[in-house]
Amino acid sequence: MTHAHSPLGTPAVRAEARDKVTGAARYAAEHTPRGCAYAVPVPATVARGRVTAVHDDEALALPGVLAVLSHENAPRLKEPDDPILAVLQSDRVPHRGWYVALVVADTPEHAAAAAEALRVEYAAEEHDVTLTTGHPGLYTPQEANSGVPAVRERGDFDTAYPAAAVRVDATYTMSAQHNHPMEPHASTALWDDGRLTVYDSSQGSTKVRDALAQVFGLEKRQITVVSEHVGGGFGSKGTPRPQVVLAAMAARHTGRPVKLALPRRQLAAVVGHRAPTVQRVRLGAGADGVITALAHEVVTQTSTVKEFVEQAAVPARVMYTSPHSRTGHRVVALDVPSPSWMRAPGEASGMYALESAMDELAVAAGIDPVELRLRNEPETEPDSGSPFSSRHLAECLREGARRFGWEGRDPRPGVRREGDLLLGTGVAAATYPVLVSPSAATAHAAPDGTYAVRVNATDIGTGARTVLAQIAADVLDAPLESVRVAIGSSDLPVAPLAGGSSGTASWGWSVHKACALLAERLRESPGGVPAEGITVTADTERELAEEPPYARHAFGAHFAEVQADTVTGEVRVRRLLGVYAAGRVLNPRTARSQFIGGMTMGIGMALTEHSTMDAAFGDFAEHDLASYHVPACADVRSIEAHWVDEDDPHLNPMGSKGIGEIGVVGTAAAIANAVHHATGARLRDLPLTPDKVL
Ligand code: MOS
Repeated sequence: MTHAHSPLGTPAVRAEARDKVTGAARYAAEHTPRGCAYAVPVPATVARGRVTAVHDDEALALPGVLAVLSHENAPRLKEPDDPILAVLQSDRVPHRGWYVALVVADTPEHAAAAAEALRVEYAAEEHDVTLTTGHPGLYTPQEANSGVPAVRERGDFDTAYPAAAVRVDATYTMSAQHNHPMEPHASTALWDDGRLTVYDSSQGSTKVRDALAQVFGLEKRQITVVSEHVGGGFGSKGTPRPQVVLAAMAARHTGRPVKLALPRRQLAAVVGHRAPTVQRVRLGAGADGVITALAHEVVTQTSTVKEFVEQAAVPARVMYTSPHSRTGHRVVALDVPSPSWMRAPGEASGMYALESAMDELAVAAGIDPVELRLRNEPETEPDSGSPFSSRHLAECLREGARRFGWEGRDPRPGVRREGDLLLGTGVAAATYPVLVSPSAATAHAAPDGTYAVRVNATDIGTGARTVLAQIAADVLDAPLESVRVAIGSSDLPVAPLAGGSSGTASWGWSVHKACALLAERLRESPGGVPAEGITVTADTERELAEEPPYARHAFGAHFAEVQADTVTGEVRVRRLLGVYAAGRVLNPRTARSQFIGGMTMGIGMALTEHSTMDAAFGDFAEHDLASYHVPACADVRSIEAHWVDEDDPHLNPMGSKGIGEIGVVGTAAAIANAVHHATGARLRDLPLTPDKVL
């Protein structure tokens, strides 16, 4: 039910805005229990091999040092589901930066000094960190990330492609990318009478609690994980990370609370990266631009620790009609850190390649790139044949073109000059799946007319508290101020992580259900609310038991205007516009932030976020924000996000699709396509740094 005065759909200010700007909001590393000690992890300095000796005498003799843990003396853990959590359990070094020891001391300075003094000896082995399309170790996995089939074939691509009137065959590459949330990963762990409490910088503390229960052999009820405020994650905090196990281990070993805040320079090795990809896209079309054959083939890397396959060919199964298609992934396990989620894993990389190839097809066919996409709109989801629950990509493209001033664009490349600058515009489409997971929540009515909602959601900067209060207030027909929302602790009703752009849908559904049941109970209580209040619990297991018969995705269109400096090779984005169709937008203020945040990340992906894998040294070269440039304000001149109203009854009771990730999808392609329009050069290797542009 939605009321004329409902706070849902209004630009409500973040519930914790004041706490954040005044510093009252505390993050994981800002909890300092009495007697707190400090841990510093020691990364391996070889890219592959074994630890043969850990000489800790000097380190232990330094002031304030409480313990030095390594595989030789660390407490034994039960085997975790995720092998990256098996910390200090073996002498094996699977990649540079893997933790080989942990130093605990009474102050951060003492711990850092002791970590420096620790001498670790290795038997180094030859390493291989170089991804090539001819690598003998390449194999076709069963599945790519998130359980999608690694390979899909429809029709007969090999016959249809050579017969096509217009063909594009292009290979796109991109380096690894790294998650650098403003708040690096941190954990503060505290044991009390066999109970473990951890303040952890995580996107989902239920999963962290469960992982800790597993490795320490505890009952879940013996552990509380608190993630009250989180300074970004982008996927890197979506799964438990080694520091939380190390902090808990060190706290148990020393008998003191232990704080472990990762130095930013260590993140690349232990929090996952967007894996580098080599993507070959072949598009065959008629002279009218209608695609008849499509192949998207991805080569990527994983680690020797575990398999993670960036599912970059998956969006090609969703986007365009084609009777003949092949989408597939091959992967090789290298001596590199384990790749993992980074905002829109799969879609961000894959749509860079596919949407660049669409631009190349537009040029080859002599068709406007907006028009080309409109001509290839499918009736049903191409790969599955399922009907879309809603698909308004065409509306996004048209509305974007109108707002951007696309009409009358001169398609000729390299002809717009302003002094030393060449100017150009580009377009690309975006897509991201609608994901949702079961969640539980409670809703409580107090006699004073206020309400309390409890759900273990996580606010990673998105405004989760705010939108959940809006949903509750809407259902309860109550003012927003009357709803308090408790999130960010594993003691709260079990809820999934803030990831896959699914948080609001998942948590919100259970909040919606609990509040609807509470409203019913209130209507049935003519005597009013009793002193103890009324509490209702709900979960959405039953609602989510069956997969709906619809293909459900959000869509969007990105438009970019760039300038390329013919003297320095520098590309700057003058204007960036995104128009989205993402169901009902529940809070325009925080939604806009997410859209433009994703687009800003897309600018980095396109232009500056470069990671060099040093083949001889066996590591990423860029470890900090000085060398790995994440866009700053000066990189973002004009950025706008809009959306088209979308009324989709097949989503959730709020009618929303996820919005956290789609902003980054397609942005890099729009920018790269604009660079081609500006310069006439088709650069197919991200990021487009000046050395490549010149
Ligand atoms: Mo996001 S990569 O689903 O946290």
